[in-house]
Amino acid sequence: MRLSRYFLPVLKENPAEAQIVSHRLMLRAGLIRQASAGIYSWLPLGFKVLRRLEEIVHEEQQRAGHMPMLMPTIQSAELWKESGRYEDYGQEMLRITDRHKRDMLYGPTNEELITDIFRNAVNSYKDLPLTLYHIQWKFRDEIRPRFGVMRGREFLMKDGYNFDLTMEDALHAYNRHMVTYLRTYERMGLKAIPMRADGGPIGGDYTHEFLVLAETGESEVFYDSAVTDLTLGDRDIDFDDVDQCRAIMEEFTTPYARTDETHDEALFGAIPEERRRTARGIEVGQIFYFGTKYSEPMGATVVTENAERVPVHMGSHGIGVSRLVGALIEANHDEKGIIWPEGVAPFPVGIVNLKQGDAGTDDVCESLYGQLIKAGLDPLYDDRNERAGSKFATMDLIGCPWRITVGPRGIKNGVVEVTSRRTGESEEMSAEAAIAKLTTLLADR
Ligand SMILES: Nc1ncnc2c1ncn2[C@@H]1O[C@H](COP(=O)(O)OP(=O)(O)OP(=O)(O)O)[C@@H](O)[C@H]1O
Ligand SMILES: [Mg+2]
Repeated sequence: MRLSRYFLPVLKENPAEAQIVSHRLMLRAGLIRQASAGIYSWLPLGFKVLRRLEEIVHEEQQRAGHMPMLMPTIQSAELWKESGRYEDYGQEMLRITDRHKRDMLYGPTNEELITDIFRNAVNSYKDLPLTLYHIQWKFRDEIRPRFGVMRGREFLMKDGYNFDLTMEDALHAYNRHMVTYLRTYERMGLKAIPMRADGGPIGGDYTHEFLVLAETGESEVFYDSAVTDLTLGDRDIDFDDVDQCRAIMEEFTTPYARTDETHDEALFGAIPEERRRTARGIEVGQIFYFGTKYSEPMGATVVTENAERVPVHMGSHGIGVSRLVGALIEANHDEKGIIWPEGVAPFPVGIVNLKQGDAGTDDVCESLYGQLIKAGLDPLYDDRNERAGSKFATMDLIGCPWRITVGPRGIKNGVVEVTSRRTGESEEMSAEAAIAKLTTLLADR
């Protein structure tokens, strides 16, 4: 992309309505604009990040054998009356009446709809296990929408649902989701800690929330610092291996880590004092096992090997995809702007031409630009007729992890400058060496 042709409405001033840094930066760097309270338009740069996060979520879900699909945003109230949640959900649910006076709603989640699809199509234990998921917009009429996309009213969520014959099988699905979530957040460059949580309106005894530590987080969290040393890395995982998935779940959930809802002073007090931490966190996902809570009232049953009809065991699993954009910025920024982790950067490499219109710098930039595109590195070339200072400020604000600076003086010596956004360190090298270096660094993006 050439910046001269891109739609990037950056703001010089800090928008007064934004209370936290991620909201400020998302507005300033031209990622989003508010449409109405808690509802946002995603401008090209923000949309690119959102798509990138979706891509990672899809890859990690499908790696575990979960199947993507798409359910609608608008649902019929009938199914919710069957499960009993039409009343329970209260004012957070946006209720709509259509022209035939039928009760509809904008889905806050999809347990009922997926259970309906399942019961109409599946009849035998032979079709289990099954995990279906989608990434779709949700609406919750939050009483206090705030912090931009962090607590929106309309927000993008990945929600997945497992159907299993027994509790044991469903707990394997739970552990499998835990593993996929750990990997998903790690690929995004985030440390998200699984913490014992509360069931809430979805219900269930087995549930963990994934929290990203940040001062602006809405949840109070208590944990053993040992939990922050754990990483999944690129271990080989066989998602059918029940023992392996359980072992990973245990590894990550054995150190104490809980939100205020489930916090236990006595257990916390038993941790060596130097490892006790109290902090704030952003909830970026949650997994649940809730057994037959929906399958029983809604009649989602299968016939077993012994010709018995039994309700299926279910769980649901959510990732806050749009909230993650805010959480990523809370965890990765400085006073100049965003610092995208390489795995999620909308443009991993920026090219700054210090003297636009100079035949020498223009040539080198064009050649770099073409080669980076060929290498699949999706560069953003700042080809505008602007001062160097303003070009640097834009690159820093929008957070390209790597910048290549091309100026007349460097060209005379046959070098360009490669700068890391995170460390601020620069290195001079030939244009070829710069391409080779970035191709290697960004190889597993
Ligand atoms: N209003 C919202 N705006 C943006 N993301 C949200 C919102 N509500 C939930 N999410 C995201 O969707 C994920 C799955 O939804 P879930 O039903 O667990 O939310 P929740 O526990 O009600 O969230 P919260 O406690 O933050 O209200 C959450 O972990 C969160 O990341
Ligand atoms: Mg939750």
